[in-house]
Amino acid sequence: MTISAPAFEYVSTLVRRETAVIYDLGKEYLAEARLLPLAREAGCADVDAYVARLRTDPTEHRRAVDALTINETSWFRDNAPYQVFTGQMLPALLTARATTRHLSLWSAACSSGQEAYSLAMLLDQHLPAGWTAEILATDVSTAMLDRVRAGRYGQVEMNRGLPATSLVRYFSRVGSEWEVSDDLKRMVRTQHLNLAAPFPPLPTFDVVFLRNVLIYFDLPTKRDILRRVRDRIAPDGYLLLGSSETTLDMDEHWTRELSGRVQVHRPAVAERVTTTSPRLTAATTGA
Ligand SMILES: C[S@@+](CC[C@H](N)C(=O)[O-])C[C@H]1O[C@@H](n2cnc3c(N)ncnc32)[C@H](O)[C@@H]1O
Repeated sequence: MTISAPAFEYVSTLVRRETAVIYDLGKEYLAEARLLPLAREAGCADVDAYVARLRTDPTEHRRAVDALTINETSWFRDNAPYQVFTGQMLPALLTARATTRHLSLWSAACSSGQEAYSLAMLLDQHLPAGWTAEILATDVSTAMLDRVRAGRYGQVEMNRGLPATSLVRYFSRVGSEWEVSDDLKRMVRTQHLNLAAPFPPLPTFDVVFLRNVLIYFDLPTKRDILRRVRDRIAPDGYLLLGSSETTLDMDEHWTRELSGRVQVHRPAVAERVTTTSPRLTAATTGA
């Protein structure tokens, strides 16, 4: 390992300030692996030399922070949440939104867009004629948002969870990559958004996917984000977290309902309207 302790402290402080993501001691190898390509590109002898440049060149901060965010994702990640989305949330919402016939979804921390486009595919397949839907895809990384807009993926990424039928139906080959169809792109709107900072004006969402990002934050940040996300979800809306994440012991203003092994989080309201769908099994109630 060549990154020095002061250089590591500088980049971990930078990432925390910009994104609230915690780079604990012990993650030096990760920081170094992520920054080495940028150091080489900048003509620096090693990562320490690149960090010295970062200290004097704030215009390079964005690229460094982008490189240090963990963007691991895949199509229909973990499968089960998407099954719950089509099998339970969507039927309930189709009844509950019969007047407006519009659904609003949020892929918060969308990475390169597989989550948002997975949802777009399901909406394309299950939304009745005459309905509209918008998926807001947000991330703190501008590089990731560029990727969502481009909608282009390499073969290795395509192999991660995308059914062959969906590949044929929604993608076309462009050189060595695959590009998502314009129809799906039209459903997905991108916006830069730092979950750890006050939100810009946002619509009210029917479903929020906030998956595999809370794990990177400390407890007060998780609590604060959950509270602000709750303000943006319809009273009968749904929140899905990553499989290792929960609202339990973090924010009591959620109810948790189990669907199979998927924990579905819903804003706690005194009297939820339950005529729209069979209730999922109440796992624990915070209300
Ligand atoms: C591991 S990926 C998860 C992607 C997707 N949600 C999934 O479950 O596959 C985490 C994403 O969170 C983003 N992220 C990290 N800190 C963030 C913040 N403060 N605000 C918004 N996005 C953030 C990263 O840029 C990255 O794209």
